[in-house]
Amino acid sequence: MSHLAHNYDPLPVDLARADGAWAWDAGGKRYLDLLAGYSALNFGHRHPALVAAAHRQLDTLTLTSRAFGHVLLEPWADRLAALTGTSMVLPMNTGAEAVETAIKTARKWGYDVKGVPDGEATIVVGAGNFHGRTTTIVSFSTDDDARRGFSPYTPGFRVVPYGDAAAVEDAIDDTTVAVLLEPIQGEQGVVVPPEGFWPRVRAACDANDVLLVADEIQSGLGRTGTTLALDLWGVRADLTTLGKALGGGVVPISAVVGRADVLGVLTPGTHGSTFGGNPLACAVSLAVLDLLETGEYQERAKTLGEVLHDALGELVADGLLAASRGVGLWAGLDVPVGAMPDDAGAGDAAPGRVLCEALLARGVLAKEAHGRTVRLAPPLVVEEDDLRWGLTQLRAALTPPR
Ligand SMILES: Cc1ncc(COP(=O)(O)O)c(C=O)c1O
Repeated sequence: MSHLAHNYDPLPVDLARADGAWAWDAGGKRYLDLLAGYSALNFGHRHPALVAAAHRQLDTLTLTSRAFGHVLLEPWADRLAALTGTSMVLPMNTGAEAVETAIKTARKWGYDVKGVPDGEATIVVGAGNFHGRTTTIVSFSTDDDARRGFSPYTPGFRVVPYGDAAAVEDAIDDTTVAVLLEPIQGEQGVVVPPEGFWPRVRAACDANDVLLVADEIQSGLGRTGTTLALDLWGVRADLTTLGKALGGGVVPISAVVGRADVLGVLTPGTHGSTFGGNPLACAVSLAVLDLLETGEYQERAKTLGEVLHDALGELVADGLLAASRGVGLWAGLDVPVGAMPDDAGAGDAAPGRVLCEALLARGVLAKEAHGRTVRLAPPLVVEEDDLRWGLTQLRAALTPPR
């Protein structure tokens, strides 16, 4: 019997090594990685600059805790603030921790600055959200698997339909301290809100003295063709959560970046983390910032994204996909009813999973989001020819046998 807990159901492959957009199993079979660690591997596997930064730092200093400073922490915060156009940075480790930090900050800002009566702060969130797995975060999940069995739930959240600006406006009242949303919902299947949604949400927050908190843990750091996904709409959040690619797939590091007057409500003793902003993570993350500052990866996401969306559009036109959507090098696709073996059309069958297994057999790594939806997030370093090869495999996997 396996000693591994059953909280995942991975595809049947055990990877042994990887380089760039490619990974190999122990038997030497090669796979094109079109998931990229849910966007943690935006720069591919083992990017030489990131690996070199990690090696150098391992020989120097790995952990200080925040009881002491270290020479990389302030430079890292300065560079991340400059890249994201923000004025304060708070380091953590995982995405969920960054979201928890943003929730705590927004609540404290609500009590200390906005004047909401203690215990009454509310935060507006979107249906279909994914922000992580802590007890507070799953309290406002609308995914039954993520939520059920983990009560009692943390109160103080109002769920509205994602992409519905009027619903956001209606949910805001005097107790509201923040609107917390993903710019584009990744786990939900790369759901892009309607045009006009983001400027209207920003305006509603401004009109009601409410913080806009953008969870860019999956959408940020180049994935959509811009440094932050909200740049696509010219909207700035008050707080932004970052994670995944911030550590280049080498180390976990996350952050909340935003307004100094908002993050400034946290004072010594109110929040922290032993590993948050450790020297090893900062060294790798500084090398990530070197890559992002060139703009090259954002540009690759944009141009390769056209190749991706053109190919998916053709699959939809040919009836091999029910729908596709997304921005940059990021796409959600829906498998048509009956396209996969044993798919009787029952809403909750797993044709997305069946497609991912067919892709695996063809040497392509992808992961279903849920039901009949599959998400593609190739590393931004993928070569155009390799991406086209992967899309050819997708077409073949979707084409019924003759
Ligand atoms: C938008 C978003 N927020 C938060 C998280 C949680 O990140 P982590 O798994 O590092 O806790 C994820 C992970 O998929 C995510 O996509």
